[in-house]
Amino acid sequence: MSIILALCVKNITKKENKKTVVIKLPKILFKPTNRSIEIEKGENLLTAAAKADVHINASCGGEGTCGKCKVIVSGGRVKTDPRSKLNKAEIKKGYVLACQTQVLDDITVDVPMESELLAQAQGRIQTLTASTENWNSRLQKLATDSIIIKKFIKLPVPSLQDSVSDATRVTRELKKELGHNVKIQIDFKILKELEAFIRDSDWMLTVTLLKEFEVYRVINLAAGDTTARQYAIAVDVGTTTCVGEIVDVNAKKILGEQSEYNAQISLGDDVISRMVYAKKGDGLQILQRRAAATIDRIIKKLLRRTKIKAEEVELIVLAGNTIMTHLLYGVGTDMIREAPYVPVFRFVPTVKGCDIGLTLLPETAVVAFPCVASYLGGDITAGVVASGLNKNKDLSLYIDIGTNGEIVLGNSEWLLGCSCSAGPAFEGGGVKDGIRSIDGAIERVIIERGTYETVFTTIGNKTACGICGSGLIDLIAEMFLSGVIDKRGKINSNLGISRIRENEHGWEFVVAWANTTSVGRDIVITEVDIDNLMRAKAAVYAGITTLVDSVGVKPEELDQILIAGSFGNYIRVKEAVTIGLLPDLPVEKYKFVGNGSLLGCVKAAINIDEWKQAAEITKSMSYQELSADNSFMERYTSALFLPHTDKKLFPSVDG
Ligand code: FES
Repeated sequence: MSIILALCVKNITKKENKKTVVIKLPKILFKPTNRSIEIEKGENLLTAAAKADVHINASCGGEGTCGKCKVIVSGGRVKTDPRSKLNKAEIKKGYVLACQTQVLDDITVDVPMESELLAQAQGRIQTLTASTENWNSRLQKLATDSIIIKKFIKLPVPSLQDSVSDATRVTRELKKELGHNVKIQIDFKILKELEAFIRDSDWMLTVTLLKEFEVYRVINLAAGDTTARQYAIAVDVGTTTCVGEIVDVNAKKILGEQSEYNAQISLGDDVISRMVYAKKGDGLQILQRRAAATIDRIIKKLLRRTKIKAEEVELIVLAGNTIMTHLLYGVGTDMIREAPYVPVFRFVPTVKGCDIGLTLLPETAVVAFPCVASYLGGDITAGVVASGLNKNKDLSLYIDIGTNGEIVLGNSEWLLGCSCSAGPAFEGGGVKDGIRSIDGAIERVIIERGTYETVFTTIGNKTACGICGSGLIDLIAEMFLSGVIDKRGKINSNLGISRIRENEHGWEFVVAWANTTSVGRDIVITEVDIDNLMRAKAAVYAGITTLVDSVGVKPEELDQILIAGSFGNYIRVKEAVTIGLLPDLPVEKYKFVGNGSLLGCVKAAINIDEWKQAAEITKSMSYQELSADNSFMERYTSALFLPHTDKKLFPSVDG
């Protein structure tokens, strides 16, 4: 069925010398979705697509460097940069880079299959049953003592002998339960509704209070006794994917999980591209609305599936990296991009859902994990809470591998953190056929020795459409071990096999032939891709070793290495060691935390002590700025080989 969106930009009517001149605005029709939009003449095509809610891959956020926003334009005139990253054949077919194109007339835009596949994957439900079950058993050990408490009170009816105000009547009753010395404040909105509410409820009501420092804030009222039902929503606000869980606070149980691609993706793959976009016009507002809309979608699906009513959700706990947290709260990130990399805030006050644009839970209290520094965010603080690293005497290394490698070293006595810019290569950015972990992504690859034939598996056993992060790690490891690439990552063009060929940008290796893919062409890895991946792995390894060395310990002295992050879940340690991404240590020392950021949110929703730890961790953790450490650059350069220039550091790798 065709969907024609009537968007708000209308044709403009101007009165000129008493004659009415109608200025016709250019109209864009996007295929295959049949969405259309009218725009100002000269509008950027990528921006127009974002306004029309049409997903176009845009890894670099419109900088013109990734070449992923290719679309075919037909019909009217456009103005486009002829030097853009397109080859002659693509230009002949009518391809342009959407981000480098201004629209001058009515046009039709064909959005290619890759963008479509990602758009379809955005609505995908992920059920991580195994981890959720595992988490539920761990949550039972927590005491139920949430930031939010609900109290059922029966108020005595006013009389001439007892004529205190309605507000005092409520707080007096609450103090009988909470202690006479506690401070209780009633939110203004509640105060305005109080008179009618307590009388309509026949003087029997449930009061929801938010514990903030030494004060209990009355944030909600419900008629009758509703204390048996208390729910919270935890959300990991990821740069790529946002994951939410709905939690029964009384039962200390996760009832459902929902993940969605962060709708900001069309505006840039990584945090740097998003910050670039935030600076353009109303970019910050667009990014803010997209983050809020993503969380709204998660909430909607969680409520529908669990049949929990919106008014029964009393708390939302969020964690994200510093940039995602700023953007969700609609706060600018300009100073985060430039030395000395200063965020606007580390702690953000409690707000209501409507303050950040959440439409389904507008009155629900929202708290976000505090950030340590510009590139060490609330996701890491939450991850430390989740892993219990800060309470463990063992020396632990916590690694969250995403677009930024965020690393924490420490134990119950001290914590030191750093972040290294790995770039989006492991999430598919900057890699020709790189793709996120969606159905059809190649996730495991073997290269047969001698024949160089590939055997691969894909997520969901679907026809191959690209290669995701774990597939890329496997692929590089296998190419290295089988001799397809050398230790510098250069393809061995002397092997004389059809899978190795040269195109106008250099050598490439065919992982999957066109007849086995859903994108209608060969899936390849190029020398440029390999170079990007080598730089990403070198940054993570150099970050780890710089941090460990800075406190005078050796990697082998680490008691455990905790791998977190959704991407971390799928990494195979042996292959990650083979390419020199992770230190060559016994596999038993590596443990998978899963989505530590999300688990930290869940724990904080149930138990206030877990929440309070976040502030303590943020204040006590030292941050090491790697760009100010000369040894980091040396380590990085040494790590730009497979597995490393110093082979003695990787004794288990036979390359
Ligand atoms: Fe257009 Fe990257 S080249 S978004």
